[in-house]
Amino acid sequence: MRQFSERRISIKGVDEMRELGLELAAALEPGDIIAMVGNLGTGKTTLSKYIAEGLGVTEALSSPTFNIVKEYRSGRLPLFHFDVYRLSSGDDLVDIGAEDYLYGDGVCLIEWADIVADILPEETIVIRLEYGENEGAREVTIC
Ligand SMILES: Nc1ncnc2c1ncn2[C@@H]1O[C@H](COP(=O)(O)OP(=O)(O)O)[C@@H](O)[C@H]1O
Ligand SMILES: [Mg+2]
Repeated sequence: MRQFSERRISIKGVDEMRELGLELAAALEPGDIIAMVGNLGTGKTTLSKYIAEGLGVTEALSSPTFNIVKEYRSGRLPLFHFDVYRLSSGDDLVDIGAEDYLYGDGVCLIEWADIVADILPEETIVIRLEYGENEGAREVTIC
């Protein structure tokens, strides 16, 4: 399991978010889980797209809100992209069989992960996204 040291990054625009996504993707290892926490529009899906790009996923990544999870298997590692906005707790995620993904050999990206934080393993990489002061700016904390 890859350990990232805590970092706080000020991002000026989408291009820098792409750089971050590609960098994260290059470091990901089988079994890694990225929990993304941040309000609507802070860039969780956008960052997920860039991580997918960095993993070499060829399919277009689209928001899994209605499916909870979508699988992408064309990249360097299997990618499981979750959007748990419609769930109430980690139990709901267990009910849909998510432990097979969480403890499998792929990479899990979870949007709105604070909702299911109670069942995420301790090694989970947490990425907090917040709006910055200027348009396109974001404050990103990784720990
Ligand atoms: N620095 C940035 N990083 C990510 N998205 C940005 C940035 N600046 C502007 N945006 C825009 O903000 C929106 C983020 O939407 P999205 O990624 O769907 O957010 P979320 O999944 O967190 O609700 C997109 O329209 C994107 O183009
Ligand atoms: Mg989203």
